Amino acid sequence: MRNLVKLTAIGAAAAATFGSGALLAADPPAGNAAAGKVVFAKCAACHTVVAGQNRLGPSLAGVIGRKAGSVAGYNYSPAMKAANRTWTKAELDAYLANPRVRLPGVKMIFAGLPSPQDRANLIAYLAAPQ
Ligand code: HEC
Repeated sequence: MRNLVKLTAIGAAAAATFGSGALLAADPPAGNAAAGKVVFAKCAACHTVVAGQNRLGPSLAGVIGRKAGSVAGYNYSPAMKAANRTWTKAELDAYLANPRVRLPGVKMIFAGLPSPQDRANLIAYLAAPQ
């Protein structure tokens, strides 16, 4: 009985922690640009980080803070043109987790990066490609 009381108390503490959103609102993992360069190999078939150099996808030079669908001379899908969003780190994180769910109709054929750490590393690399 004593043990049961103890367990109930632990359960209540855990519920309070979750209920406050403290765990869910945790900061994303810190990114490592060198590790992100390795992740970028998955993007490199279609993207460069060289300004003005578009491939199948638009150049990702300076993408962080850029308005979606705004690279001159690149032929975006109507969905990307109408997306009306800015590539903040948080928006990139959400998009790269599952591009076609986050932005239905885009013509980027990429399943997404399920690992939050991979995404954080990649975003660190895109912020400062080397
Ligand atoms: C198979 C080719 C392909 C791969 C692989 C790919 N992309 Fe794309 N990407 C595209 C295309 C095509 C578009 C344009 C989408 C549209 O207009 O609907 C795009 C668009 C984007 C955009 C929006 C750019 C802008 O100017 O608004 C970002 C950001 C992006 N890709 C990041 C990535 C990252 C990071 C990776 C690797 C994890 C990746 N993509 C992998 C083809 C690809």
